[in-house]
Amino acid sequence: MCGIVGAVSQRNVEKILLEGLKRLEYRGYDSAGMALVHNQKFLINKAVGKVSALAELVQQSNISGKTGIAHTRWATHGIPSQNNAHPHTSENISIVHNGIIENYKELRSELIELGYVFLSETDTEAVVHLFHYHYKQTHDLMLSLQQTIKKLQGAYGLVVMCENEPDTILGTRSGSPLVVGIGIDENFLASDQLALRQVTDRFIYLEEGDVVKLRSNSIDIFDQSFSPVVREEVVISDVHDAADKDGFRHYMLKEIFEQPEAIARTLDGRISHESVVQDLLGEEARTVLSQVTQVQIVACGTSYHAGLIAKYAIEEWAGIPCLVDIASEYRYRKVIVPDNALFISISQSGETADTLAALRKAKASGYLSSLAICNVPNSSLVRESAFSLMTCAGVEIGVASTKAFTTQIVALQLVALMLAEKRKEEHKSIVQALHQLPDYCQRVLELNDRIEKISEHFVEKHHALFLGRGVQYPVAMEGALKLKEISYIHAEAYAAGELKHGPLALVDSDMPVITVAPNNELLEKLKSNLEEVQARGGKLYVFADQSAGFSEDANTQVFNLPHVPACIAPIIYTLPLQLLSYHVAVMRGTDVDQPRNLAKSVTVE
Ligand code: AGP
Repeated sequence: MCGIVGAVSQRNVEKILLEGLKRLEYRGYDSAGMALVHNQKFLINKAVGKVSALAELVQQSNISGKTGIAHTRWATHGIPSQNNAHPHTSENISIVHNGIIENYKELRSELIELGYVFLSETDTEAVVHLFHYHYKQTHDLMLSLQQTIKKLQGAYGLVVMCENEPDTILGTRSGSPLVVGIGIDENFLASDQLALRQVTDRFIYLEEGDVVKLRSNSIDIFDQSFSPVVREEVVISDVHDAADKDGFRHYMLKEIFEQPEAIARTLDGRISHESVVQDLLGEEARTVLSQVTQVQIVACGTSYHAGLIAKYAIEEWAGIPCLVDIASEYRYRKVIVPDNALFISISQSGETADTLAALRKAKASGYLSSLAICNVPNSSLVRESAFSLMTCAGVEIGVASTKAFTTQIVALQLVALMLAEKRKEEHKSIVQALHQLPDYCQRVLELNDRIEKISEHFVEKHHALFLGRGVQYPVAMEGALKLKEISYIHAEAYAAGELKHGPLALVDSDMPVITVAPNNELLEKLKSNLEEVQARGGKLYVFADQSAGFSEDANTQVFNLPHVPACIAPIIYTLPLQLLSYHVAVMRGTDVDQPRNLAKSVTVE
């Protein structure tokens, strides 16, 4: 999704801005642009496509400046084009914007009446003309920003620059993140701290409604009532540079192989030999969790699948009923909140607009408390939840979520164990299995070469079915999501028992059917379902427990996985499906890390 970088310095900033945009590429975008101010004049370049195209333009035009703003745009209003790319300019004002202005059509009509000419189809252009209109009257940047945002409905992270005041940039956020990067004789703004890691490790996360005025040697922050405020400075000491592929061809593959380590980090210090550390979230949380009699989980996409898997653990281990909703549905439905219900949101980024909106609704709906499972410290979801349990996946760059998903499952299992405090005697075997999980993951990743070979079978396919039963059904759902988002093959997941209620009609020799088959109480039922596929000439790809007794034939490929305890099976069976999607996508020549039309962090509704 869109990315913002801004800088005000005593040195030229074009290279800093371009590097910042490069670091935001993983979020997904379709055009990029940059405005510098030099001798009180804007120098603007925009390019459709990659940041490298913008970098070439900047180099050819040989421009530089000590203040600048830059943007990667993910099209919402209007096609990807130079005219629609940011920054948008109104005479002496230039703006970059993340989010969606919902009342832009009304604003646009009013501004056209006032004589403004629109060159793009974007909602943002209404904002820049509106700002210009106020600045023309007031000649005061802060006042103009205040008057402009009063008229905006929707979500925005905005950064503004003015030719007349070239040593200043302004920023404000509402529903879209913005972070200040603190330098020496220079300061920065970005939608994600990752964009600024090459220039600083000191950050201030702006809060909802905050406005900031940035100069090279000063940072002034105001809250939504425009009173000066001091926000905490955070130093990020993580030296890991996520922008490095470590010799892997794609970030996605690197992140798949990082899973044993990421899972070990997520467990580190949180489980003893036989039980979960009950004060993991602090004493207050322990008291809250002991009162919980119902759980509501809300998330989007892959994070939603992690929630579906967690439901099994929460209900089985803690004996507590658990509902799981897609955030974009939950936020608009009538919700009945029982007494002592805990609201859990799950998000890799912590900035997903629908998940945040669901949390805000939940906070107003009478839940006992809220808990965020998140991978990004200081994200909006973490800051707005009463408690948070961080996944320790490290920065995830590939748009297709892999290590974030498996660490979410682990973190949710820890929550399930905390909720099951009264049944402590059952914890031992689960905790011991969790200790073994990183090693099992390592063993499963050894299937990589064979999965790569078999991926050739899928290159020409247009459809695929994924089957699972019980907790493996959401694993199959996640497998189907991975395949469709990066290989663009249409893939559906079904609970295997549902096959004969409709989807069996699709099965023929051209339909690959991918199945996850641990050796559990549902294995024999699953085998019967698979016979229904075989009888119709379907091609089966079975990822099975080595003791499950599957044999290969012309239409059946079997991949043997180690026999693992049931509680870790959802993670173990996810890994081969990730590898399968990855290799199929590579063979089909898609942009694996930045698949078309998708964004890493979906900050608009
Ligand atoms: C999955 O591969 C996708 N990237 C997507 O479904 C993602 O999980 C979803 O957009 C939610 O994102 P979040 O976890 O950052 O909230």
